[in-house]
Amino acid sequence: MDLSLEDLEHDARHLIGEMAYAYYSGGADDERLLEENVAAWGHWQLHPRVLAGISDVTTTTTLLGTQVTSPVGIAPTAIQGLAHADGEVATARGAAKAGALMILSSLATCSLEEVAAAVPEAPRWMQIYILRDRARTVELVGRAAAHGYGALVLTVDAPVSGLRLREWRAGVHLPDDLALPNLAAASTESAREGGFMAVVTREFEPALTPDDIGWLASLSALPVVAKGVQRADDAVRCIDAGAAAIVVSNHGARQLADAPATADILSEIVDTVAGRAEVYVDGGIRRAPDVVKALALGARAVLVGRPSLWALATGGSDGVATLLQWYRSELLRTMALCGAASVDHIDRSLVRRASGWALEAGPA
Ligand code: FNR
Ligand code: LAC
Repeated sequence: MDLSLEDLEHDARHLIGEMAYAYYSGGADDERLLEENVAAWGHWQLHPRVLAGISDVTTTTTLLGTQVTSPVGIAPTAIQGLAHADGEVATARGAAKAGALMILSSLATCSLEEVAAAVPEAPRWMQIYILRDRARTVELVGRAAAHGYGALVLTVDAPVSGLRLREWRAGVHLPDDLALPNLAAASTESAREGGFMAVVTREFEPALTPDDIGWLASLSALPVVAKGVQRADDAVRCIDAGAAAIVVSNHGARQLADAPATADILSEIVDTVAGRAEVYVDGGIRRAPDVVKALALGARAVLVGRPSLWALATGGSDGVATLLQWYRSELLRTMALCGAASVDHIDRSLVRRASGWALEAGPA
């Protein structure tokens, strides 16, 4: 399949305008990590196995027991109503059509009930920010559990908002025709007046500890996934506190820009977690070979953020489905070329550090 993410981004920018583009595309500080997240996957090479005797390849897998057609899922990204009139409902329909996981952001412009009604059977998880006003988080968890969300993805990397200068300079704010129906009306007002950075810093609980993972887990029967972990010791703290999975993530370079690219820290975290929890990764994953590298380094799945926004903006639900089908068909090709018949066969031997890119710490 021929699909160019550069073309999609270019066309999306034209369609959504500069304010939305600034919000979606921007990173924190000088945006050094935005480029690094993408570049770092290129510092790994695939080392293919031949004569593997394979004629059938499958990308099917499970995530916390839920069957999906592909290890590529949709990351939670806020305010999708800026990309398309149907917002998160369109993304959910596209993911459902492809049989892939979608994670709905707490800062969605569609309610979690609308999304559930659009794709009742599809694999979908709910992203959670624990708010200073805990009663609102309790209420949100109750709604998610009652509407068939399969896990709570607790984002742990936003005690305050990162400094998103592009967002600031473009005056990003919530337009009058959009709302944040999963939060309270006060958050919608705050996002209209002060933008999204203000919502994060004013409303999110800044002082989370591992005990909050246990607290969140106690509110429902849903498993808790900790998103935004960058250190092996933090992964262990999350798992000890009850997390069923972790997402190695730097929030798409939107929080701390002087942090490592996720491709460079994944393997040391996987090795320390040692199979006690599922590990997923996001950040700069753009091509199917990046997905195979992530799986070879030990991730069970990857999430894509910005590519899904460009697909939504340019093609609505069909655009999202096409993007996910493209990842899947190119994944089948890459796996066949690497001699891996299924995701379980993608092991560490298939990946090597490219020459000139030694890792300072952790296994190469
Ligand atoms: C995000 N991300 C994010 N994460 C989260 O936990 N809750 C959220 O509401 C958002 N919102 C959000 C908005 C936008 C516009 C972007 C680009 C990202 C982070 C997201 O889940 C994911 O970690 C990154 O997007 C992954 O990096 P790539 O694929 O965009 O490079
Ligand atoms: C962002 C927040 C809302 O990345 O998570 O924009």
